[in-house]
Amino acid sequence: MDISKQKNKCWNLDQITLGTCYYPEHWDSSLWRDDLIRMKEHGIQVVRIAEFAWNKFEPREGEFTIGWFDPFMKIAEEEGISVIFCTPTATPPAWLTEKYPEVLNADAQGLLYRHGLRRHYNYTSPKYWELSRRLIHKLAVHYCSYSNVIGWQLDNEINCEMAEFHAESDHKAFRDYMRMKFETLDNLNEKMGTTFWNQTYTDWEEIHLRRHTVGGFNNPHMELEGKRFISYAAYAFLKMQAEAIRPYLKEDQFITTNGIFPNVDYQRLVPEVLDFITYDNYPDFAYGMDANPRQEGNLKDRNSSFNLARVRSISPVFGIMEQQSGPGGWTGRILQPMPKPGQMRLWTMQAIAHGADYIGYFRWRTCGYGTEIYWHGLNDYSNGPNRRLEELKTIHEETVRLSDAGLAGARYQANYAILRDYDNDWDGAEDKMYGPLADKSMDGWFRAFQHNHIPFDFYYWRDETTAEELGQYEILIYPHPAILTRERADILMEYMKNGGTVIFGSRTGYKDEYGRCPMRPMPGFAGELCGVRVKDYTLLGPDDDMEYVSWEGDRMEAPWFNDVLEQKEGGEILAVFQNNYYDGEPALIRKQNGKGWGYYFGGGFSEDTANGFIQKLGMKPVRGVSHVPAEVEAALRSKTVMIQTDGTEVVRNYLFLLNYTKEEKTVELENKFEDVLSGETLTGQVKLPGYGVVCLMEEER
Ligand code: GAL
Repeated sequence: MDISKQKNKCWNLDQITLGTCYYPEHWDSSLWRDDLIRMKEHGIQVVRIAEFAWNKFEPREGEFTIGWFDPFMKIAEEEGISVIFCTPTATPPAWLTEKYPEVLNADAQGLLYRHGLRRHYNYTSPKYWELSRRLIHKLAVHYCSYSNVIGWQLDNEINCEMAEFHAESDHKAFRDYMRMKFETLDNLNEKMGTTFWNQTYTDWEEIHLRRHTVGGFNNPHMELEGKRFISYAAYAFLKMQAEAIRPYLKEDQFITTNGIFPNVDYQRLVPEVLDFITYDNYPDFAYGMDANPRQEGNLKDRNSSFNLARVRSISPVFGIMEQQSGPGGWTGRILQPMPKPGQMRLWTMQAIAHGADYIGYFRWRTCGYGTEIYWHGLNDYSNGPNRRLEELKTIHEETVRLSDAGLAGARYQANYAILRDYDNDWDGAEDKMYGPLADKSMDGWFRAFQHNHIPFDFYYWRDETTAEELGQYEILIYPHPAILTRERADILMEYMKNGGTVIFGSRTGYKDEYGRCPMRPMPGFAGELCGVRVKDYTLLGPDDDMEYVSWEGDRMEAPWFNDVLEQKEGGEILAVFQNNYYDGEPALIRKQNGKGWGYYFGGGFSEDTANGFIQKLGMKPVRGVSHVPAEVEAALRSKTVMIQTDGTEVVRNYLFLLNYTKEEKTVELENKFEDVLSGETLTGQVKLPGYGVVCLMEEER
């Protein structure tokens, strides 16, 4: 397998590869070879191991049995199975937490999270760093040398289950972080607005992360810094791990971690610490007992496409470290139905359609003990044949065809992006005056894009973001960036001058980088981008009707929060409000900047609103299909396969059509295509069976 050093933030295989999560420590060693042989029979080439196995390597403090996995590794080597080895820091052993309780995380009241589940540790305790680094170093020395180790996973799902930290060492590390950032207490007090409610600090020792406060509330500016700090602490903890491994890493071995969780800046983690990101993809949450609202209607498991777009914003081509292969269930919490026949294949193809070149199923066999006895893997408790294993065989045959068709490395194609940044994500998580609005608006755009079959990306700001990089998108939607700095506004202006369009929603630009509201006209730096001033604004309360605007005579929703606008230099009024005390006042203003446009809309974006923009701005669906039902997702990956002598490129397109319903759906194709999955040539009306998928290939010259 050719896995070259990851220089471009992407998983870089030369084929679509299947793997699984395996736990040698859960099974009698007599089962290992049989398991690996059966994996191969089902097309599995990679196992991920050891992420919860600290105890196996260090059963007692300082007593090392680093080679515990050697017998398994040798069998894997003999059977030609590749291994992703993990650092086991997500589950510190009982001896460790008992002897060094300072490594434990705590709740806001300082009550320690004790042994019994996982992720009960913190990222800042010097003792945890010392013991983790010592063990990881030994593991790296020992296991990097195996010819079949293709890479490392650091920890497991950093910030999953617990994304807040309140241990003593966290408070101390936060203090150091604040001191480094603000240098003087006067500066800190000013930036954190501590004059309000007499919160002024007079000694660094008084600085804490949120503790037990009235109502659980905190100074909002301190809270935002707290989140920035948690991200920094996670970054530092993973960096320490990567640095312990890198000296022993072979040229073709990678370092990654799995999943995307709150309060982590992944755009910084990759590539500074990780070569690329992998994701844990569990679409069955949509059908479980704790499904979230985005999973309503016909977008249930298609919500994973929202998440996969986030993964792609970090690594355009990525791996799925854990892909659902059975119903999910924890004894006390999560309950999910069995995936229906075809759904495992559908979800696999969904991940591939969005840019995954590696699919590692969670897990090879369901564990018969522990919290996850109901979290099913490919094999049931009995270890006998089952229909999911049969489905896996089909998936394998199809991924071989996808590989032969050259799909690996192809990039998801989108002309439009929703712009996001961590400052607003984190500040908005606490500030209910715009955070929930941003979530709803992202839902609105997601639904509209899905139902209109318009591929989109998320683009997350990085410190290095340039107007040129943003220029890969024709239109950027930046729904409600309450925090918008001068620097970023300037980059957006340059992007527009080069021909780009930016759409802002209400609540834009009224905060500074600390989350304070400076004394200036709203919407701050967005004003000159769109030729607009916000002269009045209101939340639509429970007694307000849905607000509408009229845009060239067409009615469009302006929900949740309204900014009543005023035209400034260069601004052109496109729509007015229709339903409230600000009837007839401007609701949408745009301004031409060079070759591009800035739009300011004084509302949130429901699906109806997003549809309005899609229509008026002429945003285009994927090419090649003339009719796709709303229940079917269309996703396009492309890659250049040849550069001809005249310099023109030959681009190969892979158009995935995914039917998420159990009913048959009919799509209409504009051209003749080869379906890579079935090998058939398709034209005109094509019937997609329930949960069916096709991958249509064509070349563009
Ligand atoms: C993931 C986790 C796995 C397993 C799985 C099913 O979040 O990484 O270890 O717990 O979910 O719950």
